[in-house]
Amino acid sequence: MRLGSGPMGVLIHLLVGLHIIGIAALLGGFLTQMKAMGQGAARFVPAMLHGAATMLVTGVALVGLNQADGNTVNTVKIGVKLALLIVILGLVYVKRDDETVDKRLFGLVGLLTVANIFIAVLWT
Ligand code: HEM
Repeated sequence: MRLGSGPMGVLIHLLVGLHIIGIAALLGGFLTQMKAMGQGAARFVPAMLHGAATMLVTGVALVGLNQADGNTVNTVKIGVKLALLIVILGLVYVKRDDETVDKRLFGLVGLLTVANIFIAVLWT
């Protein structure tokens, strides 16, 4: 079995793994609040904040490592993902201590998260 094509490849794939753990925390946190969201009682749980922060750190590192490794990165796609994530992270950070968040705002964060997932997998 070949593990990721060289040390750099291994590092890149490890970071993709951490990137996916970040998605799991962000989206998973959102999903646990969906019933509460319907009642206007949802809150941004810590997993969402930590997941969003993980996406930023691992995403930026992935851009740098891919460029250092001579791989082309889709700048427009990454730019769109970064823009959406900044909105997500900003909202979750600012409202992190609010005991309840308006359902439209909460829903927007879930929508932007799902949008980023489909941008990542469909935009080639
Ligand atoms: C909620 C936000 C995000 C989600 C859901 C997400 C999702 C994903 C997924 C599913 C992959 C693996 C599939 C693929 O290779 O395309 C991936 C890869 C990657 N992501 Fe993200 N991402 C997010 C944010 C970011 C941000 C903010 C950046 C950079 C600033 C970033 C940069 C990258 C890079 C460089 C890859 C490597 C694979 C490639 O596109 O060649 N991501 N992302």
